[in-house]
Amino acid sequence: MPKRAHLVAGILAPLCIAAFFVSTILTELFGSHAAVAQLKSLIVTPGLWIMVPLMAAVGGSGMFLARSRKGRLVDAKKKRMPFIAANGLLVLVPCAIVLDRWAAAGSFGTAFYVVQTIELIAGATNLALMGLNARDGLRMAGRLRVSPPSATRTS
Ligand code: HEM
Repeated sequence: MPKRAHLVAGILAPLCIAAFFVSTILTELFGSHAAVAQLKSLIVTPGLWIMVPLMAAVGGSGMFLARSRKGRLVDAKKKRMPFIAANGLLVLVPCAIVLDRWAAAGSFGTAFYVVQTIELIAGATNLALMGLNARDGLRMAGRLRVSPPSATRTS
C-alpha cells in the first residue's frame, strides 16, 4: 500500500507543479490581468490544498519505503527531499499566496513580477529535483533500466 501511494503521489506531485508552471507562463504571456488573477486564485485554492498533501504523502511514504533500502539511489533521494520540501513550503507557498493577493487587488507592479520570477525559478528547481527523484525511484522499482556506462575500446 505505501508503495502504491508513493507511486501515485510521486507521479501526481511533479505533474501538479508542472501544471502550475506551464499555466503561469502561458497566462502571463497571453492572458489578461483578469486571467492572471483567476489563475493565481486557482493555484492557491484548490492548487495548494492538493499539492501540499501530495508532497507530504510522497515524502512520508518514501521515507517508509526507504527503511528497508540501502544504496546510492535511495541516499540521493533522501538528500534531495529536504530541499524539495523547504523550497515548496518556504518559497512556493508564500509566493503563491502573495501573488494571489496582489493580483486580486490589481497590483501588477515591479514587485509582482519579481516575486513571479522567484516563483518560476523555485518551481523549475523543484520540478528538476522531483524529476530526478522519480527517475531514481523508477530505477529502484525496476521499471526503468539503468543505462550501462559507455563501452570503451581496450585494443
Ligand atoms: C518528490 C519526491 C519523490 C518523488 C517524485 C518520488 C517518485 C518515486 C517513483 C515514481 C517511484 C517508483 C514507484 C514504483 O514504480 O512503484 C519511487 C520509488 C521509490 N521511492 Fe520515491 N519519490 C520521491 C521521494 C522519495 C523519498 C524522499 C524517498 C526516501 C528515501 C523515496 C524512496 C523511494 C523508494 C525506496 C522507492 C522504491 C520502491 C520500491 O521498492 O519499489 N522517494 N519514487
